[in-house]
Amino acid sequence: MTKDQYILGIETSCDETAMSIVKNGVEIVANVVASQIESHKRFGGVVPEIASRHHVEQITVVLEETFSKAEMTMADIDAITVTEGPGLVGALLIGVNSAKALAFAKSKPLVGVHHIAGHIYANRLNKEFTFPLIALVVSGGHTELILMREHGSFEIIGETRDDAAGEAYDKVARTLQLPYPGGPHIDRLATEGQANINFPRAWLEEGSYDFSFSGLKSSVINTLHNAEQRDEVLKKEDVAASFQASVVEVLTTKTYKAAKEYGVKQVLVAGGVAANQGLRKELTSKFADTGIELEIPPLHLCTDNAAMIAAAGSIAYNQGHRAGWDLNANPSLDLEKYSLRGQQR
Ligand code: KG4
Ligand code: ZN
Repeated sequence: MTKDQYILGIETSCDETAMSIVKNGVEIVANVVASQIESHKRFGGVVPEIASRHHVEQITVVLEETFSKAEMTMADIDAITVTEGPGLVGALLIGVNSAKALAFAKSKPLVGVHHIAGHIYANRLNKEFTFPLIALVVSGGHTELILMREHGSFEIIGETRDDAAGEAYDKVARTLQLPYPGGPHIDRLATEGQANINFPRAWLEEGSYDFSFSGLKSSVINTLHNAEQRDEVLKKEDVAASFQASVVEVLTTKTYKAAKEYGVKQVLVAGGVAANQGLRKELTSKFADTGIELEIPPLHLCTDNAAMIAAAGSIAYNQGHRAGWDLNANPSLDLEKYSLRGQQR
């Protein structure tokens, strides 16, 4: 009988201080997330300096709570895995240095994890991967279509040329005077409105899997300003529904085309915007009866957490990735380069 493996995950790349212990890469033993959203709300976005300060304050509290919930000690942990990038450098540094301190003090292997690999692996906490697969990553900082032929291998086949999907949601929400983060508010309003404003869909050149959301964002802002100048009142619900219809149509259509072209067995959705009800519904109906399995994480695993980092970290650890004491925060860590590391060993 093989021994169970317990991986500690640490995530501090943006505005959540999170730790988790995952068993054998697939089973959550404890998952603690301390959110800072309330502190950033009044600024309408994440303030990096405030984020770093909160991480410093929260990290030991979150560590204690994680081990107390798991009823475990550091002695039970096989490896410490931590988000090394991308993200806010000051925020990442708190997680990276905490992980290094723990690994050094307790003589544990240390593994750096790419944040987006983490978002994708949130799905493995629900369902085993079947390759080849395509992951649609839609978060506050990323919009990417990623082809995976095996564990730990990531090929970017499409990405945003300007704003990320979540960023577009947050900017449009701000124009509609909705609180930060705006995504969930637009999602809610969209269900109460009609998609009766024809906002543009950026398809880009034929065959491209890239995305662009800045034109859509400008179009929403212009439409609102023009209405204001004419003393017309547009219903927020209708603007939200029309904006969401454009985002969802483009994301769903491109994901479907890519899934067909690459002959994948599974489609995974990941990142904060994967919590979007409109997107979940549309993807579910598009992939029904196609023979392609669609997986979307439960809502609490769509937004930033450390269980996803431990899940991706467990694969990296078992593939032989090891970080040295020179592990550093890398705010612009490249996913494809990160993926090559595993193949070089
Ligand atoms: O993955 P995440 O937690 O953080 C990053 O790594 O960026 O994603 C946060 C983003 C925010 O832009 C937020 O507005 C968006 O995800 N989001 C949503 C929904 N829930 C969160 N966007 C649309 N609909 C939602 N229900
Ligand atoms: Zn994220």
